[in-house]
Amino acid sequence: MELRYELVCKRFGAADALIDLDLHAPDGCFLVMLGPSGCGKTTALRLLAGLDDPTSGRMFIGPRDVTPLQPRERDIAMVFQSYALYPHKTVAENIEYPLRIRRLTQTDRQERVAQVAKMLNIDAYLERYPRQLSGGQRQRVALARAIVRQPQAFLMDEPLSNLDAQLRFQMRAELKRLQKSLAVTTVYVTHDQLEAMTMADLIAVLSNGRLQQLATPAEIYARPANLFVASFCGSPPMNLLHGTVTNGHFQRAEGTFPIDNGPASELVLGFRPEHAQITMRGAPDSFAGEIYVVEPLGSETLVSVKVGADRVNVRVWSDFQGQIGDHCGVRPDASRTVLFEKDSGQLIKGSTSGSSKQPGTGGVRESA
Ligand SMILES: Nc1ncnc2c1ncn2[C@@H]1O[C@H](COP(=O)(O)OP(=O)(O)O)[C@@H](O)[C@H]1O
Ligand SMILES: [Mg+2]
Repeated sequence: MELRYELVCKRFGAADALIDLDLHAPDGCFLVMLGPSGCGKTTALRLLAGLDDPTSGRMFIGPRDVTPLQPRERDIAMVFQSYALYPHKTVAENIEYPLRIRRLTQTDRQERVAQVAKMLNIDAYLERYPRQLSGGQRQRVALARAIVRQPQAFLMDEPLSNLDAQLRFQMRAELKRLQKSLAVTTVYVTHDQLEAMTMADLIAVLSNGRLQQLATPAEIYARPANLFVASFCGSPPMNLLHGTVTNGHFQRAEGTFPIDNGPASELVLGFRPEHAQITMRGAPDSFAGEIYVVEPLGSETLVSVKVGADRVNVRVWSDFQGQIGDHCGVRPDASRTVLFEKDSGQLIKGSTSGSSKQPGTGGVRESA
């Protein structure tokens, strides 16, 4: 089912938790809501689940306006960060509980529980109690309980944040496979940009209760809509250099860089760490700098360069020889830079040759 928020607002007292949220997730889509703590992610999920009422606006699941409906009538399943399993029920009893309250027969229940337990690789633990399981196994049981009854949509609120890094990596992949095989529209909330980039068909970036950008991970990465998105997505994030524009050149004290046009006189030049090179100081189209630190990551090396008062990260090959304090230059790849207006922070569209490339749609299914 497709999901839609239409101009949804939520106020708590005098504070706006969500402002004019307009969002559409096509049928079967894995939509990730991404943003820092307090930006309104959980609020948005709770409104869609019916656990809170919006101050204004409407929400749709498929063609149904669910705004006035009770949570139970909305037919969606929610998975929280805290797994909230029943401690005195076995794994099997936990998983089958949603089917029991929907009065399925025992045979149907057992068949369905066996099916999802197998899918999530917990079929060996069905007779155990939650306390006898690891954190990762418990999270799987919570997931199994959510998917056991094939709801219209899944809502997940930071379901992996209690797991250690290794397990998170593993569960990320499994969740993505599971969502694709079930093809149930999913809204997944996280503050972790890597989870968003790796799992999403579409990412909705939120800040201070406002939607900043709704796009595929590739689009968000290549052409962030504004400075907030640019600095929130990517690790390390996009390099952002402030400067002025004169005669088709972006200028700073440390150097100049040719740009197609400059509608404003003060701009921010953005480029990803892998879209720049370390050069000799004074090389054409480079900014003069000094190496601040060199961090080998095994497969590649991250070089942080001081450019005036700013720092720029550049990804280089692991045989990089530079040292802390070396003088150098940083030359962005002309075809991969983006420009932002300084005052509004908005991306300037079509401002560099690289921005005319349109990334694919990332496999989002068209709505039925
Ligand atoms: N029940 C509530 N009462 C008052 N303020 C709330 C309530 N729930 C959330 N908020 C506020 O709304 C904002 C968004 O919160 P939340 O949706 O939980 O953010 P997130 O999940 O992105 O961390 C925060 O400023 C939070 O303090
Ligand atoms: Mg939250």
